[in-house]
Amino acid sequence: MSAALVLGGCGGGDAPSSPLAAHEVSQPAGWDDELKMPVPEDLNPDPHVLEVELEARVADVALLPGTTTPAWTYNGTVPGPMLRATVGDRVIVHFKNSLPEATTIHWHGIRVPNEMDGAPGVTQEPIATGGEFRYEFVLKDAGTYWYHPHTDSSTQVGRGLYGAFIVDDPSDPKEFGDDVVLLLSDIGLDENGQLVPADSGGNFGDLFGREGSTLLVNGKVLPTLKVRNGKQQRWRVINASRARYYNLRLRNHRFMRLGGDNGLAARSADVYNLIVTPGERADAVFTPADPPGTRNLLRWVPTERGYGSTYNRSSEPMLNIETVADAPVLPEPIPAELRTIEPIDITNATHRTLDLTIAIASTVEMGVNGVPYWQSKPFDIALGDTEVWRIVNNTDFSHPFHLHGYFFQVLDENRVPEWKDTVNVPNKSELTIAVRFDERPGAWMYHCHILDHAEAGMMGHLVVRDPSAPPAAEPPPAHHH
Ligand code: C2O
Ligand code: CU
Repeated sequence: MSAALVLGGCGGGDAPSSPLAAHEVSQPAGWDDELKMPVPEDLNPDPHVLEVELEARVADVALLPGTTTPAWTYNGTVPGPMLRATVGDRVIVHFKNSLPEATTIHWHGIRVPNEMDGAPGVTQEPIATGGEFRYEFVLKDAGTYWYHPHTDSSTQVGRGLYGAFIVDDPSDPKEFGDDVVLLLSDIGLDENGQLVPADSGGNFGDLFGREGSTLLVNGKVLPTLKVRNGKQQRWRVINASRARYYNLRLRNHRFMRLGGDNGLAARSADVYNLIVTPGERADAVFTPADPPGTRNLLRWVPTERGYGSTYNRSSEPMLNIETVADAPVLPEPIPAELRTIEPIDITNATHRTLDLTIAIASTVEMGVNGVPYWQSKPFDIALGDTEVWRIVNNTDFSHPFHLHGYFFQVLDENRVPEWKDTVNVPNKSELTIAVRFDERPGAWMYHCHILDHAEAGMMGHLVVRDPSAPPAAEPPPAHHH
């Protein structure tokens, strides 16, 4: 209360003049009601095991007023259930595929055993209609993750198959505020709420990536979040769109970025906007600063990501921010140092160049080093090796590069150190990452997370071999459909 004592004191009068500190008050009643996502029943009595059933199926969901959309769902909702557990917990998912097509689940960013990674034809056979699969793994890392299919991913994700997966660290500082997950997606609908065709836009759809017509936050069009001036919230933002980049801005506000893909970064960073490219996450403290009793709008703002991405486009509202009438409170200070992140030692690293490429003939074919996925040969890596990859993007489009199974570091002095699984490589630029393939041998994918690009061939895989293990048969690349 010492800060309150210093700052208070209008002197005399009968009104209380010392503002309360943020930790002394709760969020406004019902603050996140419109953002609640379904939580599945935990079938396991052990508090350290999360055991759930997930079924992928077509279900009618209400997205646009007065219409129903035959979306592709997990357990009948868009997004699917939010999975949430604590670091160290075991997760068991009894999965059933009731879709008309084969599918798999990939646990984006979570360091799962190789055979649980959901890469069709690489770590598991696609799960046919009517088929089942048991996913099981232990959560090694706290952070904000998500799950989605890895077969025909642009279409399947685009139709609604995605869900949040939050892994809590009980030792996170309380000053970050109350947690709210913002799962951002866009779905392509016509005016009757029906799904647009999977190949909408033809070659241009493949080149640009298919952005859906309808922006959704946790499956809702323009929901409301209630806030109190000064009372912090910890936003965990997930980009589950097949192609859209999010640049989030809120008038009169800045954000304190804490990290993203693998939880906390080395330091907090005061930022004007939150940029979250496909597959990425952002973890940030939001300190409401609007006058009590007012409204504001969190907006999607066009971001340059290649030809035509900002031309003649205006911002769009995503989330209503309603500041309740209660008196302002004093925000908590956010620590500057968040986590120790040792730089990866690259002295004995193997160096590679990955050139992201696009060839346009009668169809659009994308690749890495000029070769689409279905013609590519996996990189061979010995367990324990460190690699440095120069990722070169001479194309006209930006590409969010994603690696399965391992977190990497971007070698760039100007960035706050953090562990990433997805990083944007802007058009006509390059960046360098370092990865330590230190555990969990097996075959792991890498690809552009504009899912139209991945399906057009901008994808590959690598095999981490344990020299002490007997040689295993090399999995063939999955076939282009
Ligand atoms: Cu989020 Cu290979 O994917
Ligand atoms: Cu791409």
